[in-house]
Amino acid sequence: MTTGYDGLGKRLFATWYDILNAGVEGRVIPFRRETAGVTSGSVLEIGGGTGANLPYYPDDVRLTFLEPNPHMVRKLQGNADRQGREVMIVPGFGESMPFDDGTFDCVLTTLVLCMVTDVGAVVREARRVLKPGGRFLFYEHVVSSHRWASRWQTWANPPWRFFTTGCNLDRDIAGDIERAGFENVDYRQFSLSVGVPIKIPNIVGVATRDKAS
Ligand SMILES: C[S@@+](CC[C@H](N)C(=O)[O-])C[C@H]1O[C@@H](n2cnc3c(N)ncnc32)[C@H](O)[C@@H]1O
Repeated sequence: MTTGYDGLGKRLFATWYDILNAGVEGRVIPFRRETAGVTSGSVLEIGGGTGANLPYYPDDVRLTFLEPNPHMVRKLQGNADRQGREVMIVPGFGESMPFDDGTFDCVLTTLVLCMVTDVGAVVREARRVLKPGGRFLFYEHVVSSHRWASRWQTWANPPWRFFTTGCNLDRDIAGDIERAGFENVDYRQFSLSVGVPIKIPNIVGVATRDKAS
């Protein structure tokens, strides 16, 4: 199955992603541990990319990745093989996932909701495919709550989006998660330095689907 999510931009993004990220990856690792690192049971990672979270998953989780970019899929499979992790990789988009209701114990996104077409649809889908009592864990960069900083993000978004082939700086991702119907949403916001003097607001947290729902 192909997703049609291809082309030179997607190929270059997959080729350069780990290299371009290397400068900030050290600062991101604590949040990979705080999300991927606390998963259990059957786990779905939406937008798995090159598999940057692979080293942080507990050994005994059953991993499924959903990823639309075929060049990312190849890198993800190669990294999983090298790390001796058995994974299932499904081509597709988070807005409409090819999984039954209540399939997973945990669903994860890290640095993905900035890129999807419809954040609200993805998080509603994340809730749908969770078992009752399941957890949606997220680590994302978001729009600032400060007026001037958010204006700067809005201004910088078009060139940023172009050079990153689709990443957006100005999204209210926490708001979309809060509106997705989860029974409990718990997160904290903080600024992550991506090189002096630029700091980007981030959120890390968990949204839970009630056992009774
Ligand atoms: C910035 S990368 C993050 C990769 C990885 N999660 C990480 O933490 O390094 C975003 C990933 O989301 C994928 N993506 C983009 N749009 C998507 C969508 N609508 N549904 C699922 N994944 C998507 C991209 O192909 C890419 O692999």
